[in-house]
Amino acid sequence: MSKQNLNALREVFEHALDQQLRYVMTPIEMLKPMIYSLKNGGKRLRPVLLLTMLSAQSSDQIKKGLKTAMALEYIHTYSLIHDDLPAMDNDDLRRGQPTNHKQFDEATAILAGDALLTDAFGLIAQDELLTSDQRIQLVIALSQSAGSLGMVAGQLDDMKAQANQMTLDKLQAIHSLKTGELFVFAARAAAIIGELDAHASQHLVTFAQHFGKAYQIHNDLLDVIGSQSQTGKRTHADEKLDKVTYPSFIGLSQTQVALQDEIEAARATIELLSQVTGRNYQALAGFLDYLALDIEE
Ligand code: IPE
Ligand code: IPE
Ligand code: MG
Ligand code: MG
Repeated sequence: MSKQNLNALREVFEHALDQQLRYVMTPIEMLKPMIYSLKNGGKRLRPVLLLTMLSAQSSDQIKKGLKTAMALEYIHTYSLIHDDLPAMDNDDLRRGQPTNHKQFDEATAILAGDALLTDAFGLIAQDELLTSDQRIQLVIALSQSAGSLGMVAGQLDDMKAQANQMTLDKLQAIHSLKTGELFVFAARAAAIIGELDAHASQHLVTFAQHFGKAYQIHNDLLDVIGSQSQTGKRTHADEKLDKVTYPSFIGLSQTQVALQDEIEAARATIELLSQVTGRNYQALAGFLDYLALDIEE
């Protein structure tokens, strides 16, 4: 199973997002900076994870997940716009293009992020393909994963982290919050929309937790050993900001071991999921292909 197998779901998502953006009433001056970051080459990992989990349950559940998948990508996009701001990581390049505040200005970038964050909850609350109960559960789960108990808390810890007070457990906790939680939301959403039992739901969450940790480790490794053409971002950005990352904290070779451990744990969870549910979740293995270290010389 390879990355290519996820492309069909990415196209379904992309088409649904284009439809959504075509008919929104948002004034063009507001919509422009939102669309700039929504439509400039994101890999769509989080929405595609949700849709992949739903499609393993039954193909007719995919359409029920589309608005939630969009909401998740809105939240992710806002998190990146704000993450790149001068007050945070101060990056001028993302996906090979100027960051939102460089393309527009800081105030516009802050507001585009605010709009995406707020609109995300509206997308779920107004989704007529879901029951009222499902919408409420999704709104609660998204606010927990994205807000002061989730991604934003992780971003604050990331900003405040200091090397001399760091432990591996603390670093993992930061990664689980700032990056893991949005993947975990994809898993919780698949369980809510697919009406899964608690046991199956927990295995989906476990996969997302391992994938999220692996993904942040991989991201930080590429910042050290990858290239700008590969990542679309300036490399060595973490070092410039004195960020505590796996490579800076435990060194490159131990970081690669930690990455492999998370990948193997995620892979084992796919097997368990298939056993517990009697459904085939092998498509999830395609996500692990993103974690290969194909370093350009
Ligand atoms: C980047 O996420 C930020 C991290 C959590 C590491 P992605 O690599 O998923 O970003 P895009 O949307 O594909 O650019
Ligand atoms: C981004 O983490 C996490 C969120 C935006 C929530 P990083 O700051 O490590 O990601 P990049 O390297 O800018 O993509
Ligand atoms: Mg950051
Ligand atoms: Mg950053």
